[in-house]
Amino acid sequence: MKGIILAGGMGTRLAPVTLAVSKQLLPVYNKPMIYYPLSVLMLAGIREIAIITRPDNQDSFVNLLGDGSAWGISITYIKQERPEGLPQAFVLTRDFIGGDRCSLILGDNIFFGHGLPELLAEAMAQQSGATIFTYVTRTPEAYGVLVRDGRGDPADVVEKPKVPVSNEAVTGLYFFGPEVSDMAAALKPSVRGETEITDLIRAYIGRGDLVAQQMGRGYAWFDSGTHESLLQSSIFVQAIEERQGLTVACPEEIAYRKGFIDLDGLRRCADGLGNGSYGLYVQGLCRAFGSGAGE
Ligand code: DAU
Repeated sequence: MKGIILAGGMGTRLAPVTLAVSKQLLPVYNKPMIYYPLSVLMLAGIREIAIITRPDNQDSFVNLLGDGSAWGISITYIKQERPEGLPQAFVLTRDFIGGDRCSLILGDNIFFGHGLPELLAEAMAQQSGATIFTYVTRTPEAYGVLVRDGRGDPADVVEKPKVPVSNEAVTGLYFFGPEVSDMAAALKPSVRGETEITDLIRAYIGRGDLVAQQMGRGYAWFDSGTHESLLQSSIFVQAIEERQGLTVACPEEIAYRKGFIDLDGLRRCADGLGNGSYGLYVQGLCRAFGSGAGE
C-alpha cells in the first residue's frame, strides 16, 4: 500500500497567512498541519509516502521531513505545476503507485477518534475497489456529499451541492486500487476547470465497487482550510492534549509504536527537538519506553 499526501494548492482561503507559507506547514496547535495526515497514514501502517506540493515550496517540506528515514518511512516528493484537481494526484503518482493499492489524504484534513486504527485496517484489507470515509456535518454544502439509496448503499456523490442532497460529507481520506491512475487520467475538467474527486468516486459507484464508511460521532474531523477551522482544530488538539497528557499526531511516537524505529531511533528524534513541550514529550516517551513502561 502506498500513501499520498496532497499538499499543494494556493491556500487562498487562508490569505494573507498563506502568501509566503504553504498552508500545510502552518501550525495546528503545536505541530505543522502535515503531521496530522502523515500520522494517519503511518497509523495505517503505510511506510512509502509521496508528498505532492507546489513547485515553489517543495524545499520547505523537504527541510521539515527529509527522506522520512528518521521515522522509519520513505518520503518521495512530487511537484504539481498547477492545482488542476484532486484526481491529478493519481496521475502524478502513477509510477510511484506502480501496481499497488494506495491511500490519498488531503494535507489539510485532521482526523481524531477512538477506533481510527481499526477503521484504517479494514480499508487496508480491502482487495479491490475503493473506500471513502464520510462524516455527518451541519455544513455539507462545503464538501463533496454522499447520497445513499434505500438500502443504504452509495448511489451518488455531489461536489458542494447548492441544494442539500444529504448531510453526509465525503472526507479527504480515500483508498483506491492501482486502476485509479487510468481512471483519473480519463476524467474531464468540471465547469470550474478542475477534475473532481467526486467524478472519480462516482465512477467507482458505477462499477459497484465503493465502500462508504461513515465515521460516527465519536470521531472528530476538521479540514483546516479556513481561519475559523484552523483555529478550531488547534483548540481541539490543545484541549485533548492538556486533558490526556498525550500528544495527538506525534509521528515519532507512532513510528516507535509501529516498530518503524527502535529506541535509539526515538532518542535521536528527541535529540533534535529541543526542550519545548513537544520535545519534552518525546524525551518522556524515550524514558517510558526505555524502562518498559508506556508500551
Ligand atoms: O476536505 C474534504 C473535501 O476536500 C471533500 O469533501 C471534497 O469532495 C473535495 O473536493 C475537497 O474539497 P475542498 O474544497 O477542500 O477542495 P480544495 O480544492 O480546497 O482542495 C483540497 C486540498 O487539496 C487543499 O488543501 C489544496 C489541495 N489541492 C487542491 C487541488 C484542487 C492540491 O494540492 N492540488 C489541487 O490541484
